[in-house]
Amino acid sequence: MRYVVTGAAGFIGSNLAETLTAAGHEVVGVDCFTDYYDPAEKEENARGLDVRRLDLAEDELDLDGVDGVFHLAAQAGVRSFGDVFPVYVRRNLLATHRVLEAAAAAGVRVVFASSSSVYGEAESYPTHEDATPQPISPYGITKLGCEQLARAYAVGFGLDAVALRYFTVYGPRQRPDMFFRRVCDALLEGGSFEIYGTGDQSRSFTEVGDAVAATIAAMERAPAGAVYNVGGGDEASMLEAIALLERISGRTLDVSHVGAAKGDVRRTKADVSRICEALGWEARTSLSDGLTRMWSWASGRVAAGRAPTNPAARRRPPSTPKRSRRSISAATGA
Ligand code: NAD
Ligand code: UGA
Repeated sequence: MRYVVTGAAGFIGSNLAETLTAAGHEVVGVDCFTDYYDPAEKEENARGLDVRRLDLAEDELDLDGVDGVFHLAAQAGVRSFGDVFPVYVRRNLLATHRVLEAAAAAGVRVVFASSSSVYGEAESYPTHEDATPQPISPYGITKLGCEQLARAYAVGFGLDAVALRYFTVYGPRQRPDMFFRRVCDALLEGGSFEIYGTGDQSRSFTEVGDAVAATIAAMERAPAGAVYNVGGGDEASMLEAIALLERISGRTLDVSHVGAAKGDVRRTKADVSRICEALGWEARTSLSDGLTRMWSWASGRVAAGRAPTNPAARRRPPSTPKRSRRSISAATGA
C-alpha cells in the first residue's frame, strides 16, 4: 500500500512510518519540523524515512494514488493556555481541515490522532468512548474540534475517517517535554526533576509499539467513522512511575514539587473494550518492559554523544511558524 504519514518526523509518526516501511508499504512522510522541540531531534527521527517538508496549514496536499493517510501532525501538549492558543488552532484545526478536504476530494481514508485529553476530568473510569467529552485544556478542545470536523466531512462528503484517542504514549523518541523523557534525562544528567502537583495524578501509559499496532489495525480493519481509545493496561501514578524508572536505571532521582499545571487531568484510565472487540487490539507491553526499552534508548542516545533534553528547549512554548507555500511535489522537486 502507499500511505501518507503526517507528523512523520515526530515521536509517534516516525515510529509508525518505520513500522509501515518495514512491513513493505510505501510511505511518504510529511512534516514541517516545527521548533516546539529541537528540530535536530526530528531530523534524527526522520533518518532513513522519506519525509517531505510541508506545512499542512497552508501547503497543498495532493493525495492522488494514495491508499490512506495517517494524520498525526499536530501541536501536542496539554499545558496549552495563554498566547500559544493560535498556534494550536493553526497546527491542529486548520491543518486538519486541509487534510480532511484533500482526503475527501481524493476519496482516501484518514486515521487520525485524537487524544485522551478530550475527556478532561472524565465522568467515569475506566473511560468509555461514549463518555461525555469535557476537555479542560485548549489543546483538548482543538483535538475534540478535529474529531467533530472529521464527522462533519463524513456526513457532508462521505469522508472515511477513524479517530484514535491515544492515552499518554511513551517509548523511544518520546517528546522531550513529556514526563518519562524528562525523568530519563534528569536521571542521566543528574539534575533535579520537577513534579507538577503531588505526583499522585495517574495515567493509562501506552507503549509506542502498541500505539503503532492499534493505528495500523485501524487503517486496515476499522469501520468508517469509528472512534477508539488506544490506552495501555497499566495505570500508574507519577510517583509510582518514577520509582519504577529508578529501579530500572539503578539511579536515584532528585525530585522537587511545583504547582499543578493548568490543563492537566488528575487521572486517565482507558476502557479499550471497543477496539478489542472490533480490531482484536489490546496493549501487550507492560509498563516495566516498556520503560526498560525506553531507558535503554535514552541512555544509548546519551552514550552516543547526543545531548539529553536541551534545558532551553524544555520550556519552549510553541512558536508562530514562518510562512512558506509549497506543494507535496514541489517539496521533492518531483
Ligand atoms: P510530535 O510533536 O513529536 O509530532 C508531531 C509532528 O507534527 C511534529 O514533528 C511537528 O513538526 C509536526 N507538525 C506540527 N504541525 C505541522 C504542520 N502544520 N504541518 C506539518 N507538520 C506539522 O508529537 P507526538 O507526541 O508524536 O504526537 C503525535 C500525534 O498524537 C499528535 O497529533 C498528538 O496530538 C497526538 N497524541 C499524542 C499523545 C502522546 O502521548 N504523545 C497522546 C495523545 C495524542
Ligand atoms: C500526553 C501528551 O503530552 C499529550 O500530547 C496527549 O494528548 C496526552 O498525553 C493524552 O493522553 O491525550 P500528559 O498525560 O500530560 O499528555 O503526558 P506527560 O506530558 O507525559 O505528563 C504526564 C504527567 O506528568 C502529567 O500529570 C504532568 O503534569 C506530569 N509532569 C510532566 C510532571 O510532573 N513534570 C514534568 O516535567 C512533565
